[in-house]
Amino acid sequence: MKEYEVECIRCGAHYTKEDVVYTCRKCDGLLNIKYDYSEIDPKQVVNAKGEGVWKYRTLLPFSNETEQVTINEGNTPLYRCDRLAKSIGISDLWVKHEGLNPSGSFKDRGMTVGVTKAVELGVGGVACASTGNTSASLAIFAAKADLPCFVLLPKGKVALGKVAQAMMHGAKVFSLRGNFDDALRIVRVLCEEENLYLLNSVNPYRLEGQKTIAFEVSEKLEWNVPDRLILPVGNAGNISAIFKGFSELNILGITDEIPKMTGIQAAGAKPVVDAFKAAKAEITPEANPETIASAIRIGDPVNAAKALHAIRDSGGVAESVTDDEITEAQLELARVEGIGVEPASAASIAGLKKLVELGEIAKDERVVCITTGHLLKDPERVISICEAPIEVDADINVLRKMLRAV
Ligand code: F0G
Repeated sequence: MKEYEVECIRCGAHYTKEDVVYTCRKCDGLLNIKYDYSEIDPKQVVNAKGEGVWKYRTLLPFSNETEQVTINEGNTPLYRCDRLAKSIGISDLWVKHEGLNPSGSFKDRGMTVGVTKAVELGVGGVACASTGNTSASLAIFAAKADLPCFVLLPKGKVALGKVAQAMMHGAKVFSLRGNFDDALRIVRVLCEEENLYLLNSVNPYRLEGQKTIAFEVSEKLEWNVPDRLILPVGNAGNISAIFKGFSELNILGITDEIPKMTGIQAAGAKPVVDAFKAAKAEITPEANPETIASAIRIGDPVNAAKALHAIRDSGGVAESVTDDEITEAQLELARVEGIGVEPASAASIAGLKKLVELGEIAKDERVVCITTGHLLKDPERVISICEAPIEVDADINVLRKMLRAV
């Protein structure tokens, strides 16, 4: 069994791999999985065979014998986007499309690890609060692992494709009269009381899976790192996870730098951006978060402390973008590069544009944007922002005329 400890990032308290614990029992701080890096052979990371999340099992908290709950997550494409780069005014832009994971979002990376851990612990069921994607992914992995699954969604605020997935894969879906932050607060208590394993990103095992985004980006760039990595921030788990991944490559001597971690929030839900700009250690929760990017409509991100550390320690920034800027970026990415993403994901591109305009991002930086979820997650938004299909008679002459008039 590989040795690791679960450590509180605030007071340093330690927990074992058998403990079912999400935040520190002493000080409520966030937890981190910590390996003895001197025991890890960097060659095993660099020369690993296979694809996707489990390729990097040398840096995952399991033995080689652990049976994985997997649906081939990870191994998503990293596209070079020269046309978009040109239009934004930079020279070296890449987009990693996490929407091409099996459930259509990056959450699968966290869930394959988190649900494998749930099985190892022998829990009675799994649960989460969600703005949609987490619930869709958890429902799939719970089905695969034959575990009961309970999800709490903010009523009327979850994109259609995501609810459909959670329902189809057999989760018990609760539509909560409240927002995501209410749902998370409630599900955390229920998990403690009801022997359910909590699979929101406060669970440190989730982040172990998601850190493999950093490994894939670096490997694709021949074990180099980009100057900057940009991604949307909601509950602030993914930015923390990817930073951890890059930090581990650095500790192992595989890479010699860490990209500037750059987090983008929506203007109506930006507690991390506010804390970053005010140079504060803690966020002030936003009581009524609002944005069309429903995935990141979160006012009290649970991983804010880790995210602020990631951004500051890497020399990155946090910035917000308006719903209109998100929509414009979503359309441009789809129409210029053929990459279809949901609104939250487009926040990374909108943020890039804004930071280039502000002169915060230099024109010669190598930038990787993470697009976190697939376009089809939120079809209703697409219908509301695109021109409607034109109904016509089945008459070639009519169509001929109409085509020529375009
Ligand atoms: N992008 C998408 C498409 C998401 O679904 C989420 C989070 C994020 C970005 C933000 O990631 O929370 O790690 O900062 N969705 C969660 C959910 C909250 O419930 O599906 P984060």
